[in-house]
Amino acid sequence: MAKKILVADDDKVVLDVISRLLKANNYDIIEAFSGMRVVSLASNEKPDLILLDNFMPSGTGFSIMDKLKKSPETSEIPVIIITGSSSKQMHDLALELGAVDFIGKPFDMQVMLNKIKEALGETKKMEKLLHIIATPRGEDSRTLKVSQAFIENLQKKFTKCSIDELNVAVEPLPPLTVKVVSGKYVLLSGKELSQEQKKAWRDIERHIERFLLADAYLLSLPMWNFSIPYTLKHYLDVILQPKYLFRYTPSGPEGLVKNKKMVVVTSRGGDYSDAMRSADFQEPYLRFVFGFVGITDITFINAQPMDALGLQIQAERIEEAKSIARKTADSF
Ligand SMILES: Cc1cc2nc3c(=O)[nH]c(=O)nc-3n(C[C@H](O)[C@H](O)[C@H](O)COP(=O)(O)O)c2cc1C
Repeated sequence: MAKKILVADDDKVVLDVISRLLKANNYDIIEAFSGMRVVSLASNEKPDLILLDNFMPSGTGFSIMDKLKKSPETSEIPVIIITGSSSKQMHDLALELGAVDFIGKPFDMQVMLNKIKEALGETKKMEKLLHIIATPRGEDSRTLKVSQAFIENLQKKFTKCSIDELNVAVEPLPPLTVKVVSGKYVLLSGKELSQEQKKAWRDIERHIERFLLADAYLLSLPMWNFSIPYTLKHYLDVILQPKYLFRYTPSGPEGLVKNKKMVVVTSRGGDYSDAMRSADFQEPYLRFVFGFVGITDITFINAQPMDALGLQIQAERIEEAKSIARKTADSF
């Protein structure tokens, strides 16, 4: 059954635009022109969601929302505030009063639709993307130009998604000392770490926790000597630990990271899509190692060749990769 949305705005043109967009997306629409109508319509019609303009005659959106939240008949209906104000104070107040989100004017239709779907629980959970970067080149990085295009569209689709950025080429990683490595063998034997070993493992566990907290992953890396940069390998040696990311069972190893997607953006000096494919040790290695811990839904976006055929081809291939990255985010 189609979900019912109550749209409240005193501006007829705005109301019309929103209604048409939502009807085209198979929602049932109830329209309200005045604040007083919102409260009575919400009580009688029990919509699944209310879109409420912040400035309506007969009460601002906030005072109407206050009434909705105080009435037991309407208090559970999610409300999204529509506002022309970009003030953070205003947005914080809307959330404090019980709004689930706000939509800024002028509208980006796609963002509005995505926010509505999120409020109705129609999109999957995507609150945190862990972006693991393995190039030290910052603004000069070709890889990061492509990743940025992915992130921009992902945040339009999942409007509450935050990006946790970890640059393993810049941020120091814990060394795999003898104490750390012997802890790994303790875990492999099925025992618990001692207090002493736990101390040595503090930073390792911190990285594992950060990795597991993410709903999805984006990896950005250049090809270095036909494979991954050593800093990324170091990171993998830190986080790939038994009991946390995988375990051995009588029927073989089992990955413990379930139902998480990954996008890997790479850039390469040469082109490994054809004759040189067998020299690409990045993609097969990363597919295997992440598959081992349970991440099997992996999309590769490779910008190549970046150095071998000059600047014109480099620019073209970056644009092509950006376009694939945007589409990948849209369907993520
Ligand atoms: C240490 C090092 C090793 C590299 N090894 C390769 C390689 O094996 N094959 C290749 O095609 N390009 C290689 N390159 C080139 C980079 O992959 C290429 O310039 C890439 O676009 C750099 O990405 P970035 O700008 O995001 O750092 C290497 C570059 C460096 C610095």
